[in-house]
Amino acid sequence: MASKFKAPRGTFDVLPSDSAARARVYEAAAGAFERAGYGRIETPIFEETELFARGVGESTDIVQKEMFTFEDQGGRSLTLRPEATAALCRAYAEHGMHKLPQPVKLWCWGPFFRHERPQSGRFRQFHQIDSEVIGTDSPLADAEAIILLADLLAELGVPGVELRLGSLGSFETRVAYRDELRSHLHANEGSLSDDVRSRIDSNPLRAFDSDHPGTREVMEGAPTMLDRLDDDDADHFEAVKAAVSDAGVDYVLDGTLVRGLDYYTRTVFEFTSDALGAQSALGGGGRYDGLVAELGGPETPAVGWAAGIERILMALGEAEEEQSLDAFIVAPDGQREMALSLATQARRAGVCVDLDLAGRSEKGQMKQANRSGAARAVILADDGTARLRDMETGEERPLDTDDVLREIEAERRKAGS
Ligand code: HAM
Repeated sequence: MASKFKAPRGTFDVLPSDSAARARVYEAAAGAFERAGYGRIETPIFEETELFARGVGESTDIVQKEMFTFEDQGGRSLTLRPEATAALCRAYAEHGMHKLPQPVKLWCWGPFFRHERPQSGRFRQFHQIDSEVIGTDSPLADAEAIILLADLLAELGVPGVELRLGSLGSFETRVAYRDELRSHLHANEGSLSDDVRSRIDSNPLRAFDSDHPGTREVMEGAPTMLDRLDDDDADHFEAVKAAVSDAGVDYVLDGTLVRGLDYYTRTVFEFTSDALGAQSALGGGGRYDGLVAELGGPETPAVGWAAGIERILMALGEAEEEQSLDAFIVAPDGQREMALSLATQARRAGVCVDLDLAGRSEKGQMKQANRSGAARAVILADDGTARLRDMETGEERPLDTDDVLREIEAERRKAGS
């Protein structure tokens, strides 16, 4: 009978058949971060709403429309985290990490929440790998962050990856550019979408992200921030590009890359895959030199990125996977306790073994052994003897029950070599 309950709209269950592929992504990321000197951090799933309002920016879609916000019993406004950067900067300041040798490199993995319209590759609960390098303005830190994500995607074998790279300059230089962009938008107001028109004053840069045909046409004629960088920002960007190129990572320059969060300064980047549909961004990030101070910490330059786990898995097109069992134990009724005792010994020795716990007949247990994908079956008999069956070839040979564990380990070594 189907349950009357379903996972909430825009959410999904990670079933056992999906978990091996996810674990591979996790392990690849953990290895890459460990090799690059990052420490893993975990922060709460919810934070004070004000943290994201201030950090991500009042005029962003995330803060205006997409946050899961609720009041707790004490009347405090809390929000399920829509992203990690603001929370990691909060943790950096709260724990006095500015007193540690700089920069501090942090990474995390976990669920994030945005109340977006669900579609392929876009969920209301999704998962990110997030990485932040806090406490340096060196362009080499930007390059290192970009190279790390490029190499991670390559190691995982994600197809059709493209890196787009831009610079938004500093907050100060962006003031003049914003005014110029506002004038351009006001001059063409009649062709813009309502949404873009309503944000000309609060967030003119977001017009670059619009899919609206009239707006797109207007934006093709718009000046980009890349044409307006001051000398310091331009030098910084040149150094980032040079270091990324030196590492053999290809990129496309994109002056229209503005990203959906307000905290960015200077470098911004996004990785896409042509194996994805409309939601083609695998991950992105950039430099955010004002955020830690904006949240009440000391002036601290920083750079980071986040990548979407579901997007990576979709681009990889991973097939469902069976568990890989070394053996399945088949036993007649009188030998069931023996089967559990053998399974326990084997598991304690690090061997992957399963057995029937549903009272199946021996024939049923053989079927179960087949379905389990186990490499071999240990078949116990009433007289206390046992056979080892190769599930692929069907070959069987007698086995001393005292030797089951040693035999399985030997077989496993043989198969592995
Ligand atoms: P973001 O571009 O908003 O950046 O998200 C990063 C990645 O998370 C996206 O490229 C996408 O793969 C995935 N993602 C975002 N929203 C969804 C969704 N609704 N469903 C599925 N996947 C999604 C940030 O979050 C910044 N905090 C990145 C950053 C870190 N910048 C500096 N440091």
